[in-house]
Amino acid sequence: MIRNINCNIKGISNDAKHCFSDDVLPDGFSLKKGDMVCNMPYAMGRMTFIWGDDELEFKPERWLDNNGCFHQASPFKFTDFQAGPRTCLGRDFAYRQMKILASIVLGCFMFKLSDEKNVPRYRMSINLHINGKLQVNVFNRLALHNPQT
Ligand code: HEM
Repeated sequence: MIRNINCNIKGISNDAKHCFSDDVLPDGFSLKKGDMVCNMPYAMGRMTFIWGDDELEFKPERWLDNNGCFHQASPFKFTDFQAGPRTCLGRDFAYRQMKILASIVLGCFMFKLSDEKNVPRYRMSINLHINGKLQVNVFNRLALHNPQT
């Protein structure tokens, strides 16, 4: 689930690199000193040729193999934490934090958009933010199952 959310939404929406010297990318593209190269995980998470026609669907099973076991997508395809020698050193720690937070918060509460017709928009920056407010109604799951509490 966490990977699916990361895949479509992207904590890091675009990531820029500056060239300190002339270089050549693995596909042969030449770069000059001072050039900037941007990789956009937000756009890549929406590309059908990478993820298929259902790329915007919430589909956690895309991370499971035929035996129902989790399989890791290539970091060059799922680029949220970057790939290669400068990959995120905190990736496993970040996943653990997200899992703990999601299991506690979603286990206790249910969230619904206050106005489901008002689809939230994002504000682009290196980290993805909601543009403006995100108004939600929060329901206590315990009270929903047992109205006496
Ligand atoms: C969802 C959470 C996170 C995301 C999406 C994320 C993403 C990234 C990305 C994309 C980079 C590469 C930046 C670049 O070179 O262009 C990076 C680097 C790094 N991240 Fe994270 N990160 C996350 C959480 C964390 C946490 C929790 C830690 C530490 C506990 C951490 C530590 C680092 C470090 C040390 C680097 C630099 C690695 C290097 O340049 O050698 N990250 N992260």
